Amino acid sequence: MNAKEYKELVDSELEKYFCGDNMPQKGLFESMKYSLTAGGKRIRPILVLEFCRITGGDVNKALPVACAIEMLHTYSLIHDDLPCMDNDDLRRGKPTNHVVYGECTAVLAGDALQAEAFGTILRSELPAEVRANCAEILADAVGADGMCGGQFLDMLGENKLLSEEELNEINTRKTGALLIAACRMGVAAGGGTATQMEAASMFGAAIGAAFQIRDDMLDVISNKEILGKPIGSDEKECKNTYMALLGYEKCLDMIEKLTTAAKHSLCQGFDDTDFLCTLADNLVTRLN
Ligand code: IPE
Ligand code: IPE
Ligand code: MG
Ligand code: MG
Ligand code: MG
Repeated sequence: MNAKEYKELVDSELEKYFCGDNMPQKGLFESMKYSLTAGGKRIRPILVLEFCRITGGDVNKALPVACAIEMLHTYSLIHDDLPCMDNDDLRRGKPTNHVVYGECTAVLAGDALQAEAFGTILRSELPAEVRANCAEILADAVGADGMCGGQFLDMLGENKLLSEEELNEINTRKTGALLIAACRMGVAAGGGTATQMEAASMFGAAIGAAFQIRDDMLDVISNKEILGKPIGSDEKECKNTYMALLGYEKCLDMIEKLTTAAKHSLCQGFDDTDFLCTLADNLVTRLN
């Protein structure tokens, strides 16, 4: 499958969740579905599916795991945009969840998407041990040691000048952890070896670091029609970013080095790496 086909598969599967038309809380379902189907590149689910495929697994059986990580990611975006966090009004080219549904519903939509992510993994048809592995990988990535920890440090760093090491620490958690988890969950779903798991983690860590550097660049150099998010959000919130700390050229250089390292790390566990190498290359120059 190529990237477009993977994305279409994930998009059409995600459409099946959270219909809830006849439920008294249908407004909550609607807000969850609004953000989940608003668009998005679907990088994390695509990583799950491709790592599953190259470890010899059945992509269709991993589809719920792929949807689950996108639910979790969407929750993180809804909360990240809230007035008490980054206070942004545009996401995936549409008004943010709290702008449309109000803050209370947006908080609850995020909460419910997080729970549904774990439920979706645990209700899938994968063997029980694989389901447990995937759920544990995800839990480790998004809790206090992972994404939430990173978001907390990101908030603490506002209005302070952090070092590059401190910025790396934040971004490894807030963005890297979930991208590593996507790669690991794919290997787990495909029944891969410990060596493959290690290679997947190294790939995820390198593209994760590059991903946040590029995200920081796009917050400055892109425009909101292409990006689907406001421009200048980081400066407005007095965030520490790679762009502010190191500048455009250094950022580009770092992304290129990280991408080379990412591609190299795949050789240690896999043969069929063309898709992932192209994906990593495309992230270097992505415009949204
Ligand atoms: C944005 O993630 C948030 C970060 C972790 C930097 P993406 O750039 O993957 O956002 P979508 O899913 O395509 O909207
Ligand atoms: C957020 O980083 C990463 C998350 C955990 C959601 P940003 O705040 O830079 O993400 P964007 O730019 O709003 O997508
Ligand atoms: Mg943020
Ligand atoms: Mg943000
Ligand atoms: Mg950003």
